[in-house]
Amino acid sequence: MTLLEQLQGKLTRAIEAAGYTLPEGFVVQLAAVADLQFGDYQSNVAMMLKKHIGANPREIAQTIVDHLELEGLASADIAGPGFINFRIEQVGWSQHFATLYKDTRLGVPELVRSETIVVDFSAPNVAKPMHVGHIRSTIIGDSLQRIARYLGYNVITDNHIGDWGTQFGMIIYGWKTMLDQSALTNDPLAELLRVYQEVNRLKKEDEVIAQECRDELVKLQQGDRENHEIWQKCVQVSMDGLNAIYDRLGVSFDHWLGESYYNDQLAEVIEELEKENLAKESDGALCVFSGGALAEKKDPFLENRDGEWQDCPMLVRKKDGGYNYATTDIATIDYRANEWKADRALYVVDARQGLHFRQLFDIAERRGREIEFRHVSFGTILGKDGKPLKTRDGDLPKLMDILDDATAAAANVLKEKSAHLPVEEQKELAKLIGVGAVKFTELSHNRASDYMFDLEKMVALEGDTAPYLLYSYVRASSILRNLDQEVVLEPSEFTVSEKEEIHLVRMLSRFGEALPTVLDDYKPNILASYLLELAKAYHSFVAACHVLKSEGSVKMTRLALCEQTSRVMKTGLGLFGISVPERM
Ligand code: ARG
Repeated sequence: MTLLEQLQGKLTRAIEAAGYTLPEGFVVQLAAVADLQFGDYQSNVAMMLKKHIGANPREIAQTIVDHLELEGLASADIAGPGFINFRIEQVGWSQHFATLYKDTRLGVPELVRSETIVVDFSAPNVAKPMHVGHIRSTIIGDSLQRIARYLGYNVITDNHIGDWGTQFGMIIYGWKTMLDQSALTNDPLAELLRVYQEVNRLKKEDEVIAQECRDELVKLQQGDRENHEIWQKCVQVSMDGLNAIYDRLGVSFDHWLGESYYNDQLAEVIEELEKENLAKESDGALCVFSGGALAEKKDPFLENRDGEWQDCPMLVRKKDGGYNYATTDIATIDYRANEWKADRALYVVDARQGLHFRQLFDIAERRGREIEFRHVSFGTILGKDGKPLKTRDGDLPKLMDILDDATAAAANVLKEKSAHLPVEEQKELAKLIGVGAVKFTELSHNRASDYMFDLEKMVALEGDTAPYLLYSYVRASSILRNLDQEVVLEPSEFTVSEKEEIHLVRMLSRFGEALPTVLDDYKPNILASYLLELAKAYHSFVAACHVLKSEGSVKMTRLALCEQTSRVMKTGLGLFGISVPERM
């Protein structure tokens, strides 16, 4: 149990012992305090109870405190208008550290009831490069799924790739007329992209080509054998190319159910939508309109144009009878509900698709799908000029290039800082740091905001960076590994007294409190901030307290502090998909 949970329990029992009855559904609030001069945890419960009890909150607080059975774990006092502040006692820290040290879950509570969470992330499009938007999705999504799994959720990851749609008319036309076979063998993704871009340019100038693209698309949709084979090859080479990137990132998926997977379910979905009276004809197309149940401002099917609320429908079948992205997503929800029994579905997709998801979730709700949906959106990555990140030619940078650049930048730093390591090891380390730096930079920013991509900064050893954390891990783990004799660490003898020791235990114990809150609003940056603070606490500790030169139970405790720091650091970075080196 975390300290927070323990104190929450004690607080609840004290309130009951004081004879106060808690109103239905009342939650006893307790939170870690940022400013340590007020103690470690604070509760505003007395103020919350004021309404129900009708007494002065300070008096309520006093009565509660009088009934607290803290058993040496903490002391409590009352502050301000009636806050109850808890300060963990020195023995409390020593004992809690022993518990943490023995816990294979590092103090992270296990779920009482597991829910099934589907995480839809990455999802790039065939024949288009995986660009910065997909990078953010891939890294954020992978970290969220790792964290949810660690917390005990039943997690299903799905790469809903864009493997169907109008782009295939162009790609098939290009495949038949301008494909360079040897280029395709060398770099399939690049060749597919070249073909796509070339045809896209040509068809804008030439209506005949545009018509031929449309014809190829119709043939594909009608099941033409040759076009179907070309399509299949395109999807296959794209998947191979993507897998090379995922391998490098250490990302994988339980499923790859791309858009095409749902093709044969779309007609039925449309039929149902019509039967349910959700979809209506409009100008020859089929659309879903407002359900009328929401306030205008909140209704995703209405938009305010020139001071008037007007329809903003979701198109589900085009005039020509074709289905689209939205139709597929509606079918996908049914599949996830029926086949996977999803309780929650997260869509890690950039903010520009906000309206699409608001409409999609509203439709699902109107159809009675009992899933908690969430669009986990994010902003864009900016270049040093403050504008959306671009290559020198003005293209969107490719993920592979970004990883290559980060690796090269890391190699540069290592040449200077880790010159003592063999060249081969430096090379491996540069790869690890390069990927780790790209990931950590992404995850340490609030996903809702844009951030600036600065290679030098993110591979630096100083600052709030991945290398700083990796270095902290290496330092903490190597102390134990380099002992000249085996020592047995006996938790019952652990004792902390120096303020740096205590602060390190405090930070170690917060791992189990901080991690679950990442999923409150799907913000991995909470874990990133936590790890940075842990690293700082660790460095202050080793600067102030001798580890190897100390003796007896003090030495034992300090060694255990190093070990526990290295475990939490390795696990925490692992939840970001960042692996740790053993030396640096
Ligand atoms: N392929 C889409 C894109 O690149 C993202 C798909 C996200 N997932 C979904 N179920 N719509 O924009």
